[in-house]
Amino acid sequence: MQFPEFETPRLKLTALSECDSNAIFELFSNREVVKYYDLEAFSERLQAEKLIDFFHSRFDSGVGIRWAIRLKDTEQLIGTCGFNSWNSAMKNAVIGYDLMPKFWGKGYTTEALHQIISAAFGGLLTCGALNRIQGDTVPGNHASEAVLEKLGFKAEGVRRQSGYWKEQFHDLTCFGLLKSEFNR
Ligand SMILES: CC(C)(COP(=O)(O)OP(=O)(O)OC[C@H]1O[C@@H](n2cnc3c(N)ncnc32)[C@H](O)[C@@H]1OP(=O)(O)O)[C@@H](O)C(=O)NCCC(=O)NCCS
Repeated sequence: MQFPEFETPRLKLTALSECDSNAIFELFSNREVVKYYDLEAFSERLQAEKLIDFFHSRFDSGVGIRWAIRLKDTEQLIGTCGFNSWNSAMKNAVIGYDLMPKFWGKGYTTEALHQIISAAFGGLLTCGALNRIQGDTVPGNHASEAVLEKLGFKAEGVRRQSGYWKEQFHDLTCFGLLKSEFNR
């Protein structure tokens, strides 16, 4: 199965490779990045290697996809994005994304997500053309909400205490974007 790769004006979206384990470790060992995640900050590089293997196995078994977000000029990995829980039969998927804090606020995530959403609605991914993409955010994650809203997602409601991690229940705000609403 060919991994779909894309370019945007400033970025390259590619498969992750074993060579990315240092950068993935840097990303997921940052407490600011995992603040709203059901994940403790990584403490060992092996965790990054396992995460890369996990993303590869999900793609190979057709249940998800995760891209490396790289700066076009230097190929430096600055974050990741992708779709989890994609369901070809139901034509929907859940979107995920994270970026190294030193690159926040420059529009990189919006640029990357616009490209992968366009590909997903356009039928360029192995899951077939999607009709709906969902994003779930923890209330308080304003940057994540801003990214989704800039892309046209609508807040659809709060699933109360839908998550449990770090010894607490967490509400999740559900955002949805339909193919018919997406501004290509
Ligand atoms: C969410 C995240 C990926 C955004 O990355 P980014 O590249 O900075 O996003 P962009 O630059 O494309 O857009 C960010 C928007 O959020 C806004 N923003 C940032 N912090 C904000 C805050 N505290 N309150 C309100 N808006 C905020 C920015 O102003 C910008 O909107 P604008 O372009 O209208 O000014 C990044 O913050 C991150 O990695 N967070 C940790 C991981 C995470 O929470 N992922 C999402 C899980 S649901």
